[in-house]
Amino acid sequence: MEKIKVAELFAGVGGFRIGLSNASKKFDVVWSNQWEPSTKGQEASEVYIKRFGEKNHSNVDIAKVPVEEIPEHNLLVGGFPCQDYSVAKSLSQSKGITGKKGVLWWEIHRILKDINHRPEFILLENVDRLLSSPASQRGRDFAIILASLSDLGYAIEWRIINAADYGFPQRRRRVFIMGYHKDSPIYNKIKKYSLKEWALNQGILARGFKIPKNKISFPNILKIEGNLIEISNNFNKNETFSPFQNCGFMLNREFFTAKVFPDYNGKITNLGDILLPEKHVPEEFFVNGEYEKWEYLKGAKSEKRYNKSRDFYYNYAEGSMVFPDPLDKPSRTIVTGEGGSTPSRFKHVVKTENGRWRRLTPLELERLNMFPDNHTEGCTDIKRAFFMGNALVTGVVKQIGESLINQLKD
Ligand SMILES: C[S@@+](CC[C@H](N)C(=O)[O-])C[C@H]1O[C@@H](n2cnc3c(N)ncnc32)[C@H](O)[C@@H]1O
Repeated sequence: MEKIKVAELFAGVGGFRIGLSNASKKFDVVWSNQWEPSTKGQEASEVYIKRFGEKNHSNVDIAKVPVEEIPEHNLLVGGFPCQDYSVAKSLSQSKGITGKKGVLWWEIHRILKDINHRPEFILLENVDRLLSSPASQRGRDFAIILASLSDLGYAIEWRIINAADYGFPQRRRRVFIMGYHKDSPIYNKIKKYSLKEWALNQGILARGFKIPKNKISFPNILKIEGNLIEISNNFNKNETFSPFQNCGFMLNREFFTAKVFPDYNGKITNLGDILLPEKHVPEEFFVNGEYEKWEYLKGAKSEKRYNKSRDFYYNYAEGSMVFPDPLDKPSRTIVTGEGGSTPSRFKHVVKTENGRWRRLTPLELERLNMFPDNHTEGCTDIKRAFFMGNALVTGVVKQIGESLINQLKD
């Protein structure tokens, strides 16, 4: 088999690249793009260049990249933000449908639409909420994505994967979206199976992340009708639930979907397994003071709060977090605000052998995402934590990459 040329969008510090290169030497990243809009500094791109070289790396707003600059590739990958994907007819009718400016999904769509040679495969990652947003029209955004990819010639398999369910060290639920173009070698195989069989047993995600037979809920077959504007305006209006379950497969806008459960009996990796010995943890990561504040933030509360800008009182309630974080379970999800010493409800705090509390070091956060140790070294601890909050569990990508290679062999 020849090389599988990869273009990595929204590359961050390179989670897809690491996962795919751990899967097989056949994956060859021929182009990558990373640009952080909220800061002048471009540290994620700098980390990327430091680790993988500057050749074929672009640090420009993706919206400003002409498709002609993107080399031919077989697999387009990227983790993009969950935004509002609604569409409207552009003022200039000749341009047809437009998505909102700054909505990065439409940049992916533009590349796939305009590029000379459409990649045979795409692999996208997003938060699981993508399948049910927005709240006013549950599932509309994903319906727009599915329909527009179908119109570009792609069949789409999707699955919400919680990395910890398959033995990885972090509970991180993300939807993975695998696209097969009609010119890809696998497409002919797809046509031999029912939508259900591909979604549950034969697909790349289905084979990579097994699900128990005879244990599925809410199976359904539906079709996404109408043009993108009609979908945007009308999809699932007045319904309470999204039609998209955590597993599915769409071909020519018709899709099978069902709620599935993980089937995994292998090794489990817990938070305690990836921690550094206490003596190797710099003192600044230990909690020194503000103990009550940490306990308060992590604890259950029901209280009256005041909203200054709107000048009104409201009731605020939340349950307690397990605190300190248990070492005998996979960790909670890393969020972008994980770094820094200020007490916070969402930062991880563990209890050491000597009974002290401490936060996680950047290296431990890298391990929870299965990045190489010190991959992001050279940036501040707050930035390093931010990168890991944005990144993904590379082991999941590795497993998908292996499954793709296996499909191509059959
Ligand atoms: C969810 S993160 C993906 C992280 C990546 N998968 C990793 O492993 O590190 C999305 C990335 O898109 C980048 N981004 C946001 N807007 C962008 C734009 N307009 N052009 C290019 N990159 C952008 C962000 O800086 C961020 O690194």
